[in-house]
Amino acid sequence: MRPAPLAIELFHSTFGRMPGALASAPGRLEILGNHTDYNEGLVLSCAAGFRTAAAVGLAEDDVVEAVSANLPGGRRRFALEDAAARGPAGEWSNYLRGLAAALSEHGVRVPGFRVAVASELPLAAGMSSSAALEISVLLALVDCLGLDFPPEQLARFGQEAESRAVGARTGLLDQLSSLCGRAGHLLQTEFRGLEQRHCPLPAEFAFVVADSGVKHDLAAEYNERRASCERAVEMLALVEPGLRSLRDADRSMLERHAGVLEPLALKRAWHVVGENARVREAVVRLRSGDAPGFGRLLSESHRSSQRYFENSCPELDALVELAEADPRCFGARLSGGGFGGVTVHLVEQGVAAAYAAELAERAEPALGKRPWTTVCPVGDGARLEDLQGRLAFNVDQE
Ligand code: GLA
Repeated sequence: MRPAPLAIELFHSTFGRMPGALASAPGRLEILGNHTDYNEGLVLSCAAGFRTAAAVGLAEDDVVEAVSANLPGGRRRFALEDAAARGPAGEWSNYLRGLAAALSEHGVRVPGFRVAVASELPLAAGMSSSAALEISVLLALVDCLGLDFPPEQLARFGQEAESRAVGARTGLLDQLSSLCGRAGHLLQTEFRGLEQRHCPLPAEFAFVVADSGVKHDLAAEYNERRASCERAVEMLALVEPGLRSLRDADRSMLERHAGVLEPLALKRAWHVVGENARVREAVVRLRSGDAPGFGRLLSESHRSSQRYFENSCPELDALVELAEADPRCFGARLSGGGFGGVTVHLVEQGVAAAYAAELAERAEPALGKRPWTTVCPVGDGARLEDLQGRLAFNVDQE
C-alpha cells in the first residue's frame, strides 16, 4: 500500500478516528554541490520519487502521540511542555519534539496532536527521510491549525527540528528540496538569497542510487566540517575585506592566500569553492543535454570529497569505483552529508534498471553484502493530500 492510504489507515486504527489533514513529502537527492548550502553556495538537487505521508489530527490535551508504520516500538507519547527536551538518541519522535519546540519558539500556539506516518523511503540512508518526515508532519499540522507559511519558513522549522533532534548544524538543502522539487526537473538553489530555479532534466538522464549500508552518526563530523569552513571565512576575511562566506571566494583567491589559511581549513574551503564552480558548469551541461560532461563533474565532486573534504568512506568509494569502471555510467558521487549513506549515479534511462541490478551484484564482494540499489525517479515536492478523496477511496476499499 502507498504511504498516504497507509498513514490514514494507521491513524484510524491507532487513534480510533479520522485525521484532520494528510500530507506527503519526498526525500531528496543531492546531485551536485556538497556542503555548499550552509556556505551560501549553490546546489543542484531533486525531490526523490519516494515519499513519506503523515496523517495528523489535533487533540484537546497537551500531549503528542505518534505512530509509524515503518519503525517498531508502537505508539510514542510526550507532553508538549517537554518538547524542548530530547528523548533517547536515535528515537524518531525526537523530530516531532523538535518541530513542536520550533513552532512554539516562533510564537505558534501548538495544541496536542496525533500523528501517523508511513514511508517508502529507505530510513537513515542519506536520502533525507528525516526531512520528509519533518515536512510531511509540518504541512499537515499547519493545515490543521489553519495557518500558512512560505516554503522558506517551513524549511527553517524543519532545519530547527533536525538540529534539536540530532544535534547537527545542517543547512536548508534537505527541507527545501523536499518542499520545492518538481518531477522531471533539477532544483538549482542559491543559498545566499534562497533563489530557486527548476532546470528541466533531459528525458534520457536517469539517476541510480546505491546504499553503502554505512549509517554514520553525522553530527560530530558534520559540525566539525562546518566549523572548518567558518574558520576559513574568518581567516580570509582578514585579507579580503567584505568577504562574508565561502560563496565570495574562488580558487584563485584561495591560491593567493594559501599561506594565510590553516592547511585543514584550506582543504575544506577548496572543496566548497570547487563545488560551486562545478554546479555552475553543470547547469550549462544540463541545458545542452551533455550527459558525459555532467557525469564528469559528479566524479570530480567525489574525488574532491575524498581528497579535500574527507567525508567519504571505503564503501562509498567502492561504489564510485565500480561506476567508473562501467561505460554505461557517466559519473557518480556520494550524495548528502557523506561518511556513509548513498551514492548517486548518472546513466541513460534505457539502461538504468539493468545498471542498478548489476551494480548491486558487482558491489557485493567489496561491501560484504548486496547493497540496495534502485533507479530513483525525480518526483514532485511536498503537498497536502486530498483527505476527502482519500477517505472515500479508503472506505470503498473496505
Ligand atoms: C546534509 C545536510 C544538508 C547539506 C548536506 C551536504 O544532507 O542536511 O544541509 O549540508 O548534508 O551538502
